Amino acid sequence: MDISKIRTDYTKKTLDIADVQSEPLVQFELWLKEAIGAEVHEPTAMVLSTVHNNIPSSRVVLLKDLKEGGFVFFTNYESRKGLEMLENSHVALNFFWPELERQVRVIGIVKKSSKELSDIYFQSRPENSRVGAWSSPQSKGIPNREWLEDQEQAYSQKFMGKDIPRPEYWGGYVVEPQQVEFWQGRASRLHDRIQYTKINDIWSLERLAP
Ligand SMILES: Cc1cc2nc3c(=O)[nH]c(=O)nc-3n(C[C@H](O)[C@H](O)[C@H](O)COP(=O)(O)O)c2cc1C
Repeated sequence: MDISKIRTDYTKKTLDIADVQSEPLVQFELWLKEAIGAEVHEPTAMVLSTVHNNIPSSRVVLLKDLKEGGFVFFTNYESRKGLEMLENSHVALNFFWPELERQVRVIGIVKKSSKELSDIYFQSRPENSRVGAWSSPQSKGIPNREWLEDQEQAYSQKFMGKDIPRPEYWGGYVVEPQQVEFWQGRASRLHDRIQYTKINDIWSLERLAP
């Protein structure tokens, strides 16, 4: 297998400063709608990078809203990422929509979302996901798979026929963007890159070399 021969020429679309919105969240929403319309697989999946002791780590989470000034996702506040974001609120997000030959990169500051947003989203989740939030001490070592399934059984029993409240340790985060780059693949590796940077509360736009 010679993976060095895997090569795609990107030719589907173009991107110019004249085409984009002045606010990156508005531009992002347009691109997200296009990704959903184009039936991109997992259009809301984004790589979230956190930093602990100068060591970065990344994982995929799902974008669930664009509210409270940024990109909203939900997770366990006591997970590895939760503890890392408590220590260092500087994070990065990355979306890759191969079907549209597009990438969006975000650098921002993360904060917890409002409790209202967390409650509304938690209650909108299917029952098994709500039970799952109680059953899984995310990112902690556990003895085996059976232990997890026993936890799930126990919490299913506990909440049977009752409202399932949101655990205090589970909820939303909002990444407020400080820099956002929209990347459109082009032929011959001459890709289009438009970068937004927030300076004194005003977004300034720049084209970057690919
Ligand atoms: C497509 C996809 C979507 C995911 N969505 C979420 C999510 O929204 N929230 C979450 O906590 N974990 C999500 N995960 C799991 C995370 O990638 C990760 O395994 C988990 O959050 C633990 O990360 P941590 O130990 O760095 O805290 C998702 C994974 C994949 C592959």
